[in-house]
Amino acid sequence: MLIDGISRKSIESNDNYEVKIIDQTILPHKLEYIDLKNFSDCCKAIKDMWVRGAPLIGVTASYGMFFALKENSSKKNIEYSFKKLLATRPTAVDLKWALENITDVILQINENDRADHVWGIARKLEADSIEQCSKIGDYGLEVIKSRIKNNKTFNILTHCNAGWLACVDWGTALAPIYKAYNSGLDIHVWVDETRPRSQGAALTAWELSKHGVPNTLIVDNAGGHLMQRGEVDICIVGSDRTAANGDVCNKIGTYMKALCAFDNDIPFYVAIPESTIDFKLKSGVNNIKIEERSHNEVTHVRGINEEGKISKVKITPDFVKSHNPGFDVTPARLVTKLITDRGICDPTTDSIRKLFK
Ligand code: MRU
Repeated sequence: MLIDGISRKSIESNDNYEVKIIDQTILPHKLEYIDLKNFSDCCKAIKDMWVRGAPLIGVTASYGMFFALKENSSKKNIEYSFKKLLATRPTAVDLKWALENITDVILQINENDRADHVWGIARKLEADSIEQCSKIGDYGLEVIKSRIKNNKTFNILTHCNAGWLACVDWGTALAPIYKAYNSGLDIHVWVDETRPRSQGAALTAWELSKHGVPNTLIVDNAGGHLMQRGEVDICIVGSDRTAANGDVCNKIGTYMKALCAFDNDIPFYVAIPESTIDFKLKSGVNNIKIEERSHNEVTHVRGINEEGKISKVKITPDFVKSHNPGFDVTPARLVTKLITDRGICDPTTDSIRKLFK
């Protein structure tokens, strides 16, 4: 997508085995690229959230596997690196999916050729992610068109960041939005702030604005009120792990938005590439390991100070306890449809299975 008219991707690689990423911890205040030069850079990039978002975590992990094998391509190191990368972020299933894509084939390959082979897989996963997200955008655009009933601005609410910054390009939930905007539809996006890490405020509002898509930032608790007032026409969110029955695990707070949408008869769509479906998981509620993040994210807020420096401010006294689950699960019954790279389907085991035979 565009930043000030220039086309950008969240991760870029080239034929010289170089990989660079945008440091998302300092957005929207600074746009800086970081080179990933070895295995430990890749682990750190995922763990410390220089990169985040389910598809981008998967692609970064596959480059991590390449660097690991470049250093040592033995079976023992493959197993060690797999475990280490898998532990960086436990909820997004793309990470496991990408690593399994690699380990499924790599042991049959001559040790000296393994790193090169993984490089090829990583580059393919990167390219495939763009194509999948673009297809989600095409299918989602049809959904948006079919929901526009009058010539008033069409209002879309989204939670967290499921845009190109969370993928390689386009995004999942934001892909239909970019396609709708690019095709001239009159749309506007309500962007949930998404505490505690503020992915909505720091990333979604920034990437939409840079591309030119009209949007307004709201606090997380405003969505229900706007829905009651008829100011939301559709909700579109992403998913970090979708169970086989259509239960959807996404950023904390998604469930509450789905409940509000249900109560107000507002369609609630979830946009997902195949890599976020955990076919082995029959249902999601209470069955997904939810990442517990640092308490500091709740007790502090990050921003830019008057001297233009990125800094943290404490908002609670020392004796206040906090709890910080990173994700929640929205039961399939609250989801209207899934928008996938293969088409639209019901959030049911049969419908998902039919699409992804
Ligand atoms: O903790 P994050 O920022 O990695 O969480 C990201 C999300 O929850 C996204 O909504 C999810 O990955 C959707 S897919 C782009």
